[in-house]
Amino acid sequence: MYQLKTIGVLTSGGDAPGMNAALRAVTRKAIYHGIRVKAIYRGYKGLISGEIKEFQTQDVSNIIQQGGTIIKSARSMEFKTDEGMQTAYDTLKREEIDALVVIGGDGTFTGARIFGQIYNDIPIVGIPGTIDNDLFGTDYTIGYDTALNTIVEAVDKIRDTASSHERLFFIEVMGRDAGFLALYGAIASGAEAAIIPEITTNTDQLTQLIEQGFRKSKNSSIVLVAESDLTGGALGVAEHLKKTHPEFDCRVTILGHIQRGGSPTANDRVLASRMGAASIDALLDDQRNVMIGIVNNEIVYVPFSKAIKNSKPADQSLMDVLHILSI
Ligand code: F6P
Repeated sequence: MYQLKTIGVLTSGGDAPGMNAALRAVTRKAIYHGIRVKAIYRGYKGLISGEIKEFQTQDVSNIIQQGGTIIKSARSMEFKTDEGMQTAYDTLKREEIDALVVIGGDGTFTGARIFGQIYNDIPIVGIPGTIDNDLFGTDYTIGYDTALNTIVEAVDKIRDTASSHERLFFIEVMGRDAGFLALYGAIASGAEAAIIPEITTNTDQLTQLIEQGFRKSKNSSIVLVAESDLTGGALGVAEHLKKTHPEFDCRVTILGHIQRGGSPTANDRVLASRMGAASIDALLDDQRNVMIGIVNNEIVYVPFSKAIKNSKPADQSLMDVLHILSI
């Protein structure tokens, strides 16, 4: 009979603001229920090499406001191999860890799903921590709100110089293959358009939007472009437009990893605290191989297979709002 005496917790993949808040919640909620907590450093890499430290409540003091992850993160190639997974399992047995909480995104849950299928005596619960908001079955992922606010702050600053010089800016934001940051960032910053992988924007449409903008005596135009091979990224889009419209004075800014840092917003801290606590409830409730999600403000359990395989569609009506409001 499975007994929950000790859990392991790790953060893996790209870091996200709020991961520390989630780690704090997992640790404290587990200890509250008399469960020991072992923090695994550097994600699956540390699970293989055995970089583990038992955490007490004070180990997670003063971290709710910190960006990044105090237990570090990594993307492990070794965990994708049979030998790597076997070594990770041996570590769990040696450390007497009965269940695992993994905080991360798509790659983290893909690894967890495969591991959970092979070694099914170790229940795993996932907490969605990624700025991309690309996991199916949850309205929000931890870190998304903070990244969105970082984007808006940066775009506001770029707007000042864009207006002064009457320029067109293509600003590339992260998201891997998801356009949430670009679309919501565009609406929130009053941008003229967003180019996202989920909805095709052809050059004619884009040119029309930009021309309209300038014609209506707007003295600058800002287009947010989601990073993706499908969109071509900001450099690709700008390159293309320059050929057809050399008259536009255009510039490109790639926001990059600035989007992953910084102190989490209040929303991300609350989300991380709720999800962290819910992960322990899920384990106590005999759940396994599920991600904690939040839908209409209610906690839900989503099987890993659904969370990573089903794609979360972009909302065309938001694209319409963006276009209408940018006339
Ligand atoms: O998944 C988070 C994310 O920041 C993506 O938006 C981006 O494509 C990727 O990670 C970048 O990864 P890395 O930090 O390894 O370059």
